Amino acid sequence: MSAGRLSFFAWAQQEEQRGNRDGREDGALYAQHRIRATAAILSVAPPGSGRLALLGAGNAHDLDLTALAAAFEEIHLVDIDPAALARASGRQSPAVQRKLHAHAPVDLSGLYQAIEDRRRPVSPGTVTALVDEAAARVLGQLPPRFDLVASCCVLTQMTWALGAFAEGDPALAVALQQAAVAVHLRTLLALVPPGRRALLITDAVSSSVYPVDQLEPGTDLRGLLDRLTEQSLLFQTANPVNVRRTLRRDPFLLARCGSAELGEPWLWTGPRTLTYLVYPMVLTRKEASVRLDGRPD
Ligand SMILES: C[S@@+](CC[C@H](N)C(=O)[O-])C[C@H]1O[C@@H](n2cnc3c(N)ncnc32)[C@H](O)[C@@H]1O
Repeated sequence: MSAGRLSFFAWAQQEEQRGNRDGREDGALYAQHRIRATAAILSVAPPGSGRLALLGAGNAHDLDLTALAAAFEEIHLVDIDPAALARASGRQSPAVQRKLHAHAPVDLSGLYQAIEDRRRPVSPGTVTALVDEAAARVLGQLPPRFDLVASCCVLTQMTWALGAFAEGDPALAVALQQAAVAVHLRTLLALVPPGRRALLITDAVSSSVYPVDQLEPGTDLRGLLDRLTEQSLLFQTANPVNVRRTLRRDPFLLARCGSAELGEPWLWTGPRTLTYLVYPMVLTRKEASVRLDGRPD
């Protein structure tokens, strides 16, 4: 990472803004991905639908906001890049725009500012202690409750930036990326009430790592995802085994996550002709959970 005199937050934001700006006309590339991601969200919409939060909404090329606005009263778009959210909103009809609420810039890892605090130098051993504070920072910037929350391929993006922060220190990179997974899963489960669902949509591997762009038509993508999971060929943070392990090991998540169900994966060929294997995972919040201080949630 070469941040120069920029703060890490500003550097990461600038990188994302550049990517979103470069991809602003790429809507057509996202068509199939948009259909699948939108259908995955609508398939878990609760009765009456209510308020939806979309984390990492960016340009919203992967979201059919018209279809989502027909189902939800309010749609809250969250991203580190305010300009991308403005573009996403600007493309919508006035009726859809009236339902949109933008929250930006929000660093959904909650870590970008904390890790460059020179009074508390970050090391692999101290990162876990930042998770509570980072999750609180994210949640403090968002309304407290939604009827459904969906993460829109932002998990790997955040962990990429943290890997860049820790360049040359693989142990620190892994610790930071794992902390971001915990913060993100906490965010998803904290923003929905007991009994409700949250949806993690994430890219799991790209064609730069495994030739998912050369699969025979009709390939069993679920079988492929399972094989790549076993062989640890997926992005480590987005590996479903890692997500499930985090749900079990993090006390906040263990107390709140009732189930984590993997849905049918799909392929998405995006910018720079890279193809991604993407999967949805439905997290259901337990009916009743107990706060870490022992009181009911
Ligand atoms: C792969 S894109 C998702 C595609 C996006 N939904 C779209 O259609 O344009 C990832 C999005 O995550 C956002 N992002 C990356 N890191 C973030 C962070 N730490 N906090 C919040 N948003 C972040 C980027 O700005 C980008 O809009």
